Amino acid sequence: MAQIISVLSGKGGAGKSTTTVMLGGALAAAGKKVLLIDCDSGLRSLEIFTGAGSDAVYHWGDVLGGACDPADALLTCKNGCSLLSAPNRLPDDAAPEAFTALVLGLSVSFDVILLDGPAGLGRGFRLAAAPAKHILLVSAPDDVSLYACNAAHKTLEEAGKMSQRLIINRFRYKAVQKTLQKNIDDSIDKACVRLIGIVPEDKNLWYFGSGGLLPKQNSPGIRAFSRIAGRLNGESIPLKISDLQ
Ligand SMILES: Nc1ncnc2c1ncn2[C@@H]1O[C@H](COP(=O)(O)OP(=O)(O)OP(=O)(O)O)[C@@H](O)[C@H]1O
Ligand SMILES: [Mg+2]
Repeated sequence: MAQIISVLSGKGGAGKSTTTVMLGGALAAAGKKVLLIDCDSGLRSLEIFTGAGSDAVYHWGDVLGGACDPADALLTCKNGCSLLSAPNRLPDDAAPEAFTALVLGLSVSFDVILLDGPAGLGRGFRLAAAPAKHILLVSAPDDVSLYACNAAHKTLEEAGKMSQRLIINRFRYKAVQKTLQKNIDDSIDKACVRLIGIVPEDKNLWYFGSGGLLPKQNSPGIRAFSRIAGRLNGESIPLKISDLQ
């Protein structure tokens, strides 16, 4: 059975889709069979991010509606993962129970399933969280994003999702280096979630998100996602200040 992880934030643009694709790629590179599920109905950014776009015929709405088998809807991504696309709009009758059953059905064929959630805390957020045992909350290191993360954290705890970890994304070392530790501690306090990793601002990730160019494997952002993937695999990888520069 796969480890099922939802990538959520509360605030839009925090880096959920980037995290889903980069973490998926890092886990696939470590030998895991990884499925990415796009839960951002309407935007379907994973098709663009993974380069699988033009192949998409079916999406999970078709699977829920009985129009195709799950296997018919799976796409192959350039980063070694499989992808299940999102419908163009969130189906009115998409119930968290049915969606969870779909994801659990797929979990026998994968080691890790990453669900990329939408912005906000609405129905799409709840659907994306429903199948997951573990939650990764992604936040930019600014107060608005961190407090939105805290709101997501509380909503998820109320729904019984107690395994939550924080990724601080787009961290700019130079902007905070004099008060680095305080800055990181304050961010964790504002989100109220235990940290699993910090991803630096990395222009390679931005170019990737903007134009689909594959990022350099040795860029700081890619290395940060590899370390987070290792921690998810149970490896003890310390957080080093030198990794943030
Ligand atoms: N560490 C980073 N360094 C530089 N750019 C980044 C980083 N992380 C994400 N970005 C860029 O930020 C933008 C938003 O990222 P992304 O689409 O992953 O966010 P999101 O949380 O999925 O957004 P949405 O809420 O709209 O789904 C993209 O242009 C992406 O390339
Ligand atoms: Mg997204």
